[in-house]
Amino acid sequence: MKIAENIYYVGVNDRNKERFECLWPLSNGISYNSFLVVGEKIALIDTVDSRFFPLFIEKIKEVIGERTIDYLVINHMEPDHSGSMGLIREYYPEICLVGNKKTLQMAEGFYREAGKTFCVSEGTTLDLGNLSFTFFLTPMVHWPETMVTYESHTKALFSGDAFGCYGALNGSVLDSTIDIEPYFPEMIRYYSNIVGKYGCQVQMALKKVCQLELKMICSTHGPVWTENIPHVLREYNRLSLYEGEPGVCLVFGSMYGNTMEMAECVAEGLVRGGLKNFSMHKLSRTDPSYLIADAFRYKGLLLGAPTYNNGLYPLMDHFVTDLQHRMLKNRLIGCFGSFSWAGQAVKKLVDFASSPGMELIGEPVEMKQGFSFEIGEKCRLLGESMAARILE
Ligand code: FEO
Repeated sequence: MKIAENIYYVGVNDRNKERFECLWPLSNGISYNSFLVVGEKIALIDTVDSRFFPLFIEKIKEVIGERTIDYLVINHMEPDHSGSMGLIREYYPEICLVGNKKTLQMAEGFYREAGKTFCVSEGTTLDLGNLSFTFFLTPMVHWPETMVTYESHTKALFSGDAFGCYGALNGSVLDSTIDIEPYFPEMIRYYSNIVGKYGCQVQMALKKVCQLELKMICSTHGPVWTENIPHVLREYNRLSLYEGEPGVCLVFGSMYGNTMEMAECVAEGLVRGGLKNFSMHKLSRTDPSYLIADAFRYKGLLLGAPTYNNGLYPLMDHFVTDLQHRMLKNRLIGCFGSFSWAGQAVKKLVDFASSPGMELIGEPVEMKQGFSFEIGEKCRLLGESMAARILE
């Protein structure tokens, strides 16, 4: 599929994979994007999951016929993109692997031999005759070896995982040709799940990328961005600065319904306070992938859980740990919870809400045993306090 003068999409859709990295659910599959840049010399940018190699090589042959590929640029060594490296070399034994020092070390480590190599560093250029690549290192977006490749004639940026999203591509690749709306929430989910921990490094990468004239961003997953480039750059800037939009993510756990009653009243308080923009999730029903995404999306977090084993309800404990691992900050947090004979849940949630970069909102609500009208009203007040703070 030709996507620009000299650039062809040769990636594949994986509609069978249940979970990305065996962790993150894929309700609509995922694409592994790879691109052929065809000049006087030919370069292949990244590969695909090795299970798709037969289809991948067929697509490549369809574009270049019996010509050979001169360079294989690997922007990112995670096996969803490097997995077909060895197989490509069987077809094109003279292909030169282009990567930075860490890429080449990983290529040896993962696949035993890298073959012919060209080692690049920050700002190195590679001439394809009528086209030219410049390489920029973007470590930790998503692995330490990650880099991006800029082609200066077409103004195309091959960005690795950056700006990628979950979801197979339906019928086309270019954002201007497909219904793009379903991909935006999946970009936030992908970012928060996979790259969320590395906000600082993403900021450094954005500084480099934003200096380039960009007509096309070709990520390794999801649509090729053209007319939505300003939007995706803004979203990446916001997410990597840990800035939430004015809204709330309300997450609760409940075993027998008492803490859920509290959550219902907190939600009533949000609405009573004039807030419409919030999501509400029961921990045992929603996969952590979506909870993490909403925690990154919204400025406010309302967390409620029972006490369990003299600590925090396990699913809430995991969720809070997930957020701590991603160094989430700049959040307003309200807490509520319950216990039957010894209270710990609210204390633990308040500890989290009091950590650096977080702000505790309203009066935490703690309930002993069963739900009551008085508890319900305290929960509504908590919701109102959060709404007021979000909307101020
Ligand atoms: Fe799509 Fe970090 O690999």
